[in-house]
Amino acid sequence: MQLYLDTANLDEIREAASWGILSGVTTNPTLIAREKGADFKQTISEIAELVNGPISAETISLDAPGMINEGLEYAQWHPNVIIKVPSTTEGLKAVYELAKRDIRTNVTLCFNAAQALMAARAGAFIISPFVGRVDDTGVDGMQLIREIATIYRQDRAITTLILSASIRHPRHIIDSALAGADIATCPFKVLQQAMRHPLTDRGIEQFLADWKSRT
Ligand code: G3P
Repeated sequence: MQLYLDTANLDEIREAASWGILSGVTTNPTLIAREKGADFKQTISEIAELVNGPISAETISLDAPGMINEGLEYAQWHPNVIIKVPSTTEGLKAVYELAKRDIRTNVTLCFNAAQALMAARAGAFIISPFVGRVDDTGVDGMQLIREIATIYRQDRAITTLILSASIRHPRHIIDSALAGADIATCPFKVLQQAMRHPLTDRGIEQFLADWKSRT
């Protein structure tokens, strides 16, 4: 399973990229808005220079023609830009039309496996089920990943990648990989948490203490 960073913060992207673990980046309007004063096009272009992999940029139109126009524009910014559209029937139309022009899409805000199946049929490059937000409703979000993985693997014609989104903690990363996700997109904080373990820290302290006390 590949790891993407779910952020528009260039410092976080630069740091995680230096760990050698980043295969791509996802953004959304909320994450872009969090970077006060940043220009959307410039931010996406700079991310594409930092990470050699798919960079998702989200459309804000509600209708297919608007999404397609935005997608055609974003696609010119860098060959690695992936056009994010919502899991709606208008989103499906945009996926279908953009795919005809070899423009890759990420269908976001996916909350049931039927949406994922339809996105794949329309030609989505990536489907983004929101695990954490499903968990928030009291339903097991990881079950959504399992269902989509089962449905996709039963049909060889489907090549859509399953991207586990709305990741809230390191356990989500592990369970996404076990459930069959191709990618997990993670907040920077969760990637940091995932590499921390008290026994690792204690082990380092003990090794250093023993090293200093050697005779
Ligand atoms: O990739 C989608 C993700 O940004 C949503 O996460 O934490 O806002 O549910 P969250």
